[in-house]
Amino acid sequence: MSEQEAVLVTGAGRGLGATIAERLAATGYAVLVTDIDADTAELVAQRIRDDGGEAHALRLDVTSEQSCEEAVRYADERLGGLYGVVNNAGIVAATPFVDMTVEQWDAVLTVNARGTFLVCRAAARAMRPRGRGAIVNIASIAGRDGFPKFANYVASKHAVIGLTRTLARELGPDGIRANAVCPGAIKTAMWSAEAQDTDDPDAVFDSIAEGTSLRRNQTSDDIADAVEFLIGPRANSITGQSLIVDSGLIFA
Ligand SMILES: NC(=O)c1ccc[n+]([C@@H]2O[C@H](COP(=O)([O-])OP(=O)(O)OC[C@H]3O[C@@H](n4cnc5c(N)ncnc54)[C@H](O)[C@@H]3O)[C@@H](O)[C@H]2O)c1
Repeated sequence: MSEQEAVLVTGAGRGLGATIAERLAATGYAVLVTDIDADTAELVAQRIRDDGGEAHALRLDVTSEQSCEEAVRYADERLGGLYGVVNNAGIVAATPFVDMTVEQWDAVLTVNARGTFLVCRAAARAMRPRGRGAIVNIASIAGRDGFPKFANYVASKHAVIGLTRTLARELGPDGIRANAVCPGAIKTAMWSAEAQDTDDPDAVFDSIAEGTSLRRNQTSDDIADAVEFLIGPRANSITGQSLIVDSGLIFA
C-alpha cells in the first residue's frame, strides 16, 4: 500500500492527461493512470515508474458508472486512499450547428459532462469520510465563451464549470475543494482535421496563437503547472474557480 497521497487522472494515456499524470508523480503523488485505452495508460504508468515515481494503470471508461466506481475503489484499496482526482478525459467533434446530429451532441456531452459527473460522484463518496480531497476538472476556454461549430463541446465544458462550482459549495464543508482549469489551444491528438472540422488544423492552431495577448499557444506543461498548483496545498483556500490558461486569448 502506498504511503503517498493518491491521485486518479482520467484520459491519461496520452496528451494533457499523460503530462499531468507524470507531473503529479514527479511532485510526489501516487498516481492512478487511467484511460479507456488500457495499453496507453500502462505505457504512461511504466514511464513514471522508470523515472522513479509511483504509478498504477487501470482501464477506466468515464461514461460507465461501474467503471468509475471500480477505479475509485482501486485507488482506495491499492493506493492507500484517494486524495485527488483530475477529470481530464474528453472528446471533441466539431460540426456546424445546423448539421449537428443528436448522436454528435450526445457523444460529446456523455464523455465530457456525464463522465466528469460520474467520476466526481464516486470520488466524493470516497473522500467525504476522510474530510479532505481535491478535484481538478479540465474544462476549456470553451467553458467560458462560445465557439462556432463547437456547440456540443462548448455546452459540455460549461456544464463542467457549473458542476465544479456546485461541488465547491456542496463538498466544501467536508474539506473537499473543486476547481477547473480552462486551457486554450494545445497541440495534441485532439487537433486532428476531422475532430476540428477543418482541412488545415495547423493553420487554425497558428491563427489562435496570433489572437492571444502573448502570441503563443500553450504546452501540456503549462496546463500541468496549473493542475499541480490547484491540487496541492498552496491552493488550500481556493475552490470553485476555473483558471484560464490561454496566453491571454479571452478575458471572461
Ligand atoms: N488540446 C486542446 O487544445 C485542449 C484545449 C482545451 C481543453 N482541452 C481538454 O483537455 C482534455 C485532454 O485533451 P487532449 O488534448 O489531451 O486530448 P487527447 O485526445 O489527446 O486525449 C484524450 C484522452 O482521453 C481518453 N478518453 C476518451 N474517451 C474516454 C472515455 N470515455 N473514458 C476515459 N478516457 C477517455 C482518450 O483515450 C485519450 O487518451 C480534454 O478534456 C479536452 O477537452 C484540450
